[in-house]
Amino acid sequence: MALQTTATATVSRTYPFSVRRLSDVAGAEISGVDLRDPVSAEMRDAIMAALEEFHVIAFRDQNLTKDEQQAFTLNFGEIEGHVGRLNSGEKYPIVHTVTNLDEKTGLPTETPTTHGNYFWHTDKSYHDVPSLLTMLHAIQTPPEGGDTLFANMLMAYEALSDAEKQALDGMRAVHSWEANRLNTGNTPASEEQKRERPPVNHPIVRTHENGRKSLYLGVHIGHVEGMDYEAGRAMLADLLDRATAEPFVYRHAWKVGDLTLWDNCVLVHRADRNYEMTAHPRVLHRTAVLGVVPV
Ligand code: OGA
Ligand code: MN
Repeated sequence: MALQTTATATVSRTYPFSVRRLSDVAGAEISGVDLRDPVSAEMRDAIMAALEEFHVIAFRDQNLTKDEQQAFTLNFGEIEGHVGRLNSGEKYPIVHTVTNLDEKTGLPTETPTTHGNYFWHTDKSYHDVPSLLTMLHAIQTPPEGGDTLFANMLMAYEALSDAEKQALDGMRAVHSWEANRLNTGNTPASEEQKRERPPVNHPIVRTHENGRKSLYLGVHIGHVEGMDYEAGRAMLADLLDRATAEPFVYRHAWKVGDLTLWDNCVLVHRADRNYEMTAHPRVLHRTAVLGVVPV
């Protein structure tokens, strides 16, 4: 499938910046903007429109400090705190670092404290109000690989048969921090974390303001509500597998300086281990904006 590399669709409207679509599935590159500059209402709206059109947008050649990234993020809503803890026991800071560097030695490792980003998911779906958009700013990237994959859940939903669409209508899945830790083989959730973030349930098919529908899946899900535990998990695993097939995936190959925003409502994403994890640092600064209750 060559869908990742060829973009045949056009850009639907005019933007106050230069936009180039990167694939038909998702992804556009924006250049000629310095995100340290104040963001006007027009600029903010144009960025949100680009996000709706392309689902993933990458501003090239940015150079923001963590404070500047925080200030830029606040243009789009409230920034979310975290349940995750560093080895030290401290909560992740508000602008936190996604990295393969070991917390103690500072050296690249295959087994970083947090590796949940290598599994398909949509951010903070274990919250009753999950993330609207997430931003990653590439600080250090491996010479090759370490890509982020984004799968378009609008397209994945469209590809289901009518019978499947009907069967999924009204079904809900239970998402939790605890399930995430089990599914990813990470340190189990502590009692405090379980209390802080009790399980929530969300529709498996989301309906957006524009009327379009998409699948809402990923590694934060424990089981399907009201369905046999194992049967529900098997159904979801099969759905996720098909929904993340190559024709629905945009692969973002990072360049240092990229600041990428994506729409968690219509995508699942994951990091790819397609790099020498023990040889090369991969460091990105991350912020996430609070969204809406999925319906
Ligand atoms: C995240 C995430 C993917 C990556 O920061 O939410 O999932 O490529 N990151 O590291
Ligand atoms: Mn994520």
